[in-house]
Amino acid sequence: MKLGVTGDIHSPLYFNLFSESLKKISCPDIMLLCGDIVKSNMHWEYKKVVDEIKNKGVNYIYSCFGNTEYDNSRGLYKKIDGVLFVDDELVNVEIENKRICLIGTRGALNKPTAWQMKNRKGIKRDYGDRIKKIEHLFEKASKTKYDYKILFMHYSPTYKTLKGEDEGRYDEMGCPDFEGVIKKFMPDVVFHAHSHYGTKYAEVYGTPVYNVSLPLNKEIKIIDLE
Ligand SMILES: [Fe+2]
Repeated sequence: MKLGVTGDIHSPLYFNLFSESLKKISCPDIMLLCGDIVKSNMHWEYKKVVDEIKNKGVNYIYSCFGNTEYDNSRGLYKKIDGVLFVDDELVNVEIENKRICLIGTRGALNKPTAWQMKNRKGIKRDYGDRIKKIEHLFEKASKTKYDYKILFMHYSPTYKTLKGEDEGRYDEMGCPDFEGVIKKFMPDVVFHAHSHYGTKYAEVYGTPVYNVSLPLNKEIKIIDLE
C-alpha cells in the first residue's frame, strides 16, 4: 500500500516543484494532501493540482484544509471533482483487502495567531473542541478492525518536527496536545505540513510523524505501509 503525501504547495508558488516531483514517482495507491495547497485562497489553483494527480492515475485523493484554504470558501473546495476533503472526519478506505482508517483535520495551534485572535472569536475554544473531536474519532475507530490507522493534518501535532523553525513561534505552528492523542491511540503514521523550515521526521511515543511540507522536502513523500 503506497501513499503519496504532501502539503504547502501554495499553488502557483510551488506548483512546478510539485509537478516535477509527481513525474519522478510511480503511481501511489492513495494521495494525501495536508493543506495549504493553494496560495491565499486561490481555489481555482486547487483543481489544477488535483487534475495533475488524477492524470497520474491516482484513484484515491484525500485532503484536509490548511490555513490558506479559507473557512468561508470551504464549499467551493468541496465541489472540486476527484478529491474528498476530510475535515475533522473519519473516512474508511478499502484497497486490495486492506482496511484503512483515515482521520483528517486542519489541527490546532497552542496559541492562536494575533490575526486569529482578532478575527476568529472563540478560536481557542474551537481548537480545544477540535482535539476532543479527533480523540472521539479515534475512540470510534478503536471499535473497528483496521489494517492501518492514519492521521493527516495541516498544523503540527508536536514541536519535535518544528525543530529548525523560530522556537518562539512553535506555539503558533502546532499544538502538542495532539501528542496525548497519539500516545493513547497509536495511529500507524501521522502526517502534517505548515512548517516549511522544520524537521522532516520525528517519533511521538513510537509513532512516526512526518512533516511533509513540500518546500522542506522538495519532493512528494512516499510511504509504503507494507
Ligand atoms: Fe499553513
